[in-house]
Amino acid sequence: MSRDLAQGFPPGFLWGAATAAYQIEGAAAEDGKGPSIWDTFCRVPGAIATGETGDVSCDHYHRWREDVALMRELGLGAYRFSVSWPRVLPRGRGRVNEKGLDFYDALVDALLAIGVRPFVTLYHWDLPQALQDRGGWTAPDIVAAFAEYASLLARRLGDRVTDWMTLNEPEVVAFAGHHVGVHAPGVRDFTTALRVSHHLHLAHRAGAAAIRAARPNARVGIALNMSPCEPASDAPADGAAATRMDGYLNRWFADPVFGRPYPADMLEHYATWVTIPALELAAQPPDFLGVNYYSRRVCRASGDGPLGVTRVEPEGSTYTALGWEVHASSLRDLLVRVTRDWAPREVIVTENGAAYDDVVRDDRVADPERTSFLREHIAAAADALGRGVPLRGYFVWTLMDNFEWAHGTSKRFGLVHVDYDTQRRRIKDSGRWYRELIAAQRAVAV
Ligand code: FCB
Repeated sequence: MSRDLAQGFPPGFLWGAATAAYQIEGAAAEDGKGPSIWDTFCRVPGAIATGETGDVSCDHYHRWREDVALMRELGLGAYRFSVSWPRVLPRGRGRVNEKGLDFYDALVDALLAIGVRPFVTLYHWDLPQALQDRGGWTAPDIVAAFAEYASLLARRLGDRVTDWMTLNEPEVVAFAGHHVGVHAPGVRDFTTALRVSHHLHLAHRAGAAAIRAARPNARVGIALNMSPCEPASDAPADGAAATRMDGYLNRWFADPVFGRPYPADMLEHYATWVTIPALELAAQPPDFLGVNYYSRRVCRASGDGPLGVTRVEPEGSTYTALGWEVHASSLRDLLVRVTRDWAPREVIVTENGAAYDDVVRDDRVADPERTSFLREHIAAAADALGRGVPLRGYFVWTLMDNFEWAHGTSKRFGLVHVDYDTQRRRIKDSGRWYRELIAAQRAVAV
């Protein structure tokens, strides 16, 4: 079983797990850390379904040694984590918090000591509140601030870290944060969200250039949330709706990352709200494209929202605890499409996973649904490899249950279960299965 699946992957394939600073660290105001927009947002009544904050979360800031030991137990070859910008620059710019840098420094050393390759994301959503107070992502000078931050981290960690991602899911930053308002900073304005998306592109470029200037051998990527967008029917209007959704979600972000102009159809569509300036076309392509995949999008034309698209949940499918459709072949299709349309040098699945309502019984967490989710998606990744996709790694979202943004700790995605009352960690059955797969792949791929 694991053996057959393992055979689909070449030697050196990277098996990892991913996390994000705000979701696991806790220690929200310790050792000189400044507040982030998530510290603020969690205090808005009703913003977080459970009324929680990430003040403690998994307490990883204090328990990271135990968490690194779990990675070793799982046999991970790589670990993707993010740096909390306000932990290292409490006011976003200027004064450096050495204690914050020391934390990531020690983490990187501990990972390397057990042979786990660090993949560092610079921005996984926790903007320093001090920068938000000056306009956050809506203000043009965020671009210079991000480049300074990127340079600081590259200089401090880049002697040991080679793999960097500038931003995690700029679509979510722009639109969940500034149009739908379900993420920090909770703004609800489509024009603002579009402007933010432009600043995110500029920040990605400036950040990538800053990393490369500090560390010429660095490999710089970005993690984009991407999904195949399919029409709900043969009706031409549904076909056009799917094209718009694809433009909004995939092309608006991937085209500029690969040095192309913004997609013309979307510029035209968005012109009702705002005229987005052209980007310089000379941008260097990423060394790897990180793809975060959770589900496909089935689209129906409607009068809803600025895109005029309603997402349809197909009947007869299975869904995770977040109501996300399980559709593994879409991961293969997405990876094949990404390769065809943007020709990345390397592709890495930087997030893939599922939430289920896990329970501890007799000291064990049986989560067969997550195991089959992972098995099917990893098989789809093998299929993509067989079709010529330059796929180099796969990261499960996520290492351990954590603070799932607006859902608080109520949604569990981990390979490791966290008991939030005691902070006890338990490897779930899916984690054991992943460990077996990794071991089997290393044994066959020689
Ligand atoms: C992604 C985020 C990650 C986590 C998963 C479930 O969009 O990057 O932090 O919330 O979804």
